[in-house]
Amino acid sequence: MSDETRKGATKKDARELAAEAHTDFARAMSYGDYLQLDTLLAAQKPLSDQPDELLFIIIHQATELWMKLVLHELTQARALVVADDLQPAFKAMARVSRIQAQLIQSWDVLSTMTPSDYSSFRSALGQSSGFQSAQYRLIEFLLGNKQAQMIEPHRHLPELATRLDAALATPSLYDEVIRLLARRGFAIDPAALGRDVREPYAADASVRAAWLTVYRDPKAHWELYQLAEELVDLEDWFQQWRFRHVTTVQRVIGFKRGTGGTAGVAYLRKALDIVFFPELWDVRTEL
Ligand code: HEM
Repeated sequence: MSDETRKGATKKDARELAAEAHTDFARAMSYGDYLQLDTLLAAQKPLSDQPDELLFIIIHQATELWMKLVLHELTQARALVVADDLQPAFKAMARVSRIQAQLIQSWDVLSTMTPSDYSSFRSALGQSSGFQSAQYRLIEFLLGNKQAQMIEPHRHLPELATRLDAALATPSLYDEVIRLLARRGFAIDPAALGRDVREPYAADASVRAAWLTVYRDPKAHWELYQLAEELVDLEDWFQQWRFRHVTTVQRVIGFKRGTGGTAGVAYLRKALDIVFFPELWDVRTEL
């Protein structure tokens, strides 16, 4: 663009600039077509006539959309770790951390819903609960919290159950990181490398020793050091999400049972004890 043309463009007001945009979409793909907004925006169907139910639906749907991207990025990160290609894996993991930060912020929107607002439509939810979020379980499985019984609420949906079964049987991101430590010359116990990946991960002394070596001399092991910190970020954000969930739940339903049938706050507080990457937290005490 010449300087003269540029000057001409800046002289136009906003209406004139907007008038230059395409307006005939009879035969061209529009924004709404590309994003399938007709499908997306028709998917909010409150079951009550209570105004706050729309917020409740949208916050869950938006979280599920972000979880879809988290799964996509973490699956890529795991494949990149398998391929010893760590730089792009870091990029994917850093993106997930930013998504997690965003999800934590969204509790602030939900906490504008008071106990009176929520109880006005809670009965409409029946037994449905975030406890039955398949994508949440897939993320947990990817990060190493393998709990086979969590697949049961999905048995009636064969496609989803098959996907969860496959995720349970696939090494987690952390399993692959431990294999990488072995490939990079660390003496990892064969029991840790050949563990039953269907089981939840349990801390291993040889893995802790490897991380200790990395943290004691970051310059000599820079990539693994960076990988460790990316993993700690993921777990840290995950824990903050759990924490904001339980505080929001307590604020809205107190100590009532959950619609999913658990003890509610007591169940969610127990989940704060889950640790994905135990040795990465253990080494901090030893440094
Ligand atoms: C006022 C809003 C909310 C309340 C009162 C609430 C309540 C609960 C309760 C009581 C549980 C335990 C299971 C049960 O018995 O139902 C639970 C689990 C869960 N909720 Fe929420 N929740 C809320 C919002 C959300 C949102 C916005 C999400 C985002 C998707 C979400 C995702 C989950 C997940 C993934 C679990 C399973 C956690 C686990 O098993 O560790 N919840 N929720």
